[in-house]
Amino acid sequence: AQSLKEAFKKDFAIGTALNSAQIEERNPRVNNLIVQQFNMATPENVMKSALLHPKWDTYDFTMADKLIAFGHKNNIKINGHTLIWHSQLPGFMRRIQSSDSVKTFFTDHIKTVASHFKGKVFSWDVVNEALNEDGTLRNSVFFQKLGENYVTEAFRLTQEASPNTELYYNDYNNEQPAKRAGCIRLIKKIQEAGVRIDGVGIQGHWHLGKIPFKDIEESILQYAALGIKVMITELDIEILPRNFQGAEVSQRMANNAESNPYPNGLPDEIQKQLADDYETLFKLFLKHKDKVTRVTFWGVNDGDSWLNNWPIRGRTNYPLLFDRNNQPKPAYFKVIGLKE
Ligand code: G3I
Repeated sequence: AQSLKEAFKKDFAIGTALNSAQIEERNPRVNNLIVQQFNMATPENVMKSALLHPKWDTYDFTMADKLIAFGHKNNIKINGHTLIWHSQLPGFMRRIQSSDSVKTFFTDHIKTVASHFKGKVFSWDVVNEALNEDGTLRNSVFFQKLGENYVTEAFRLTQEASPNTELYYNDYNNEQPAKRAGCIRLIKKIQEAGVRIDGVGIQGHWHLGKIPFKDIEESILQYAALGIKVMITELDIEILPRNFQGAEVSQRMANNAESNPYPNGLPDEIQKQLADDYETLFKLFLKHKDKVTRVTFWGVNDGDSWLNNWPIRGRTNYPLLFDRNNQPKPAYFKVIGLKE
């Protein structure tokens, strides 16, 4: 096959996160790669509330509309990301105190945004990252001011505004047993309220050599048993150490060797391990292709990955299938090789 989307077309959709620079005509190489390889895309930032909804009564759809037009022109379906998330909220939300105002924001935001993109997006990550690691609901502004029913309510409002769009819940680490159990409770609550939910996204921000294959498989089975689609929505494999936090971050920020331990490129044995990890993952997804409907990478190439900037800026990371020159890496050939 010439591309991922061709190779897996009978199995599941292949997606990527997309940012605004990547779709510009002055970037033809990444542009061509996107069109060649992917049949779905999730806007990496432009559909988040901070960007779409800069002021209390002002929306700006310019960037998002461009991205959607790019998708439609190139047969790439768009997954909207994301309506309700505690992060990347508009600045004015920091000054909002009363439950009534949060409720007004919540309702207006969902109605306005979901209506604007009605018929233009294939699906929505309606609610993103609502859970704590122990499976309880995160103490976000929405939970605090609207109570635990806000998740179900978000799905109800989205469904009303955009009835033919698929509706998903999306989170990270929700393949881990405790968080998964909480995620299942959340999904069942939505279903028991008679509100539609079409799928669950397992983000898939995993680490080299530490991919929880067993938990992933168990999660695919348990989520699918709820009668919904399962998607891997933000796949990447971190190769640099990330086990440091808080004050340690600024201290280590100065340590360039740690941010960029491979100035001459990725050593062969790490390339190989990355390829093996990706191959094992895709074998698992193929085994459950009747349940897994989409696999989306969180970025097109290594240079564009958020992992170069988190938890500190200026790292050189290698988490994806294409390198900084948009060339396929050994991992790409392993993955596509599964279909040859
Ligand atoms: O656009 C501004 C730019 O004007 C400014 O100069 C620059 C300097 O700080 O910041 C730019 O904004 C950054 C934005 O990405 C666009 O590059 C933000 O600081 C930065 O925080 C933001 O990061 C995004 C992150 O979500 C925010 O939480 C990443 O690109 C994006 O990949 C990441 O995606 C999330 C998913 O939405 C949800 N799941 C986790 C995933 C990874 O964190």
